[in-house]
Amino acid sequence: MQKTAIYPGSFDPVTNGHLDIVERGLKLFDKIIVAILTNPGKKFLFPLEERRAMLEESMKDFSNVEIDTFDGLTVDYASQRKAQGILRGLRALSDFEYEFQMALMNRHLYPPAETVFLTPKEEYTYLSSRLVREVVALGGDVTGLVPEAVRARLEARFRKLTHPPTR
Ligand code: PNS
Repeated sequence: MQKTAIYPGSFDPVTNGHLDIVERGLKLFDKIIVAILTNPGKKFLFPLEERRAMLEESMKDFSNVEIDTFDGLTVDYASQRKAQGILRGLRALSDFEYEFQMALMNRHLYPPAETVFLTPKEEYTYLSSRLVREVVALGGDVTGLVPEAVRARLEARFRKLTHPPTR
């Protein structure tokens, strides 16, 4: 039987840490569906279509990876896609409490899907989309932490935010 995992997240934006987790996940699952949260109530730096475009561009060399979007409960999406696994990256102890609660709640809601935690490469353990956004917003360099196309989009985005077009 083909084993499928969903990899849910905000991906605002995708980082090399996310790519590393997908690469590792592909050793365990036949297919990974990267599922971007659309939640209209949450504020994202990048609109959904841009988050999707960055994921598609950065994952184009992976076979057996699909990029999709979802709203509502992760477990409802997992069930709809007949996924056996929910993939999440675990970087540090600070991730643990939130991830543990989410995994147990997801299991309570939908027992057939197992949450699988994978640990990224050591050099990505401090990496998060939030920090990447903050560093670029303050003029720092994130080369090597995100795909090049993402770095370019981040810089363009903050240029636009700091110098909005004048009318
Ligand atoms: O990349 P993130 O922001 O850490 O991902 C969080 C995500 C999308 C996995 C989480 O917010 C989520 O599952 N949201 C969907 C709503 C849901 O299922 N909530 C109950 C979780 S127990």
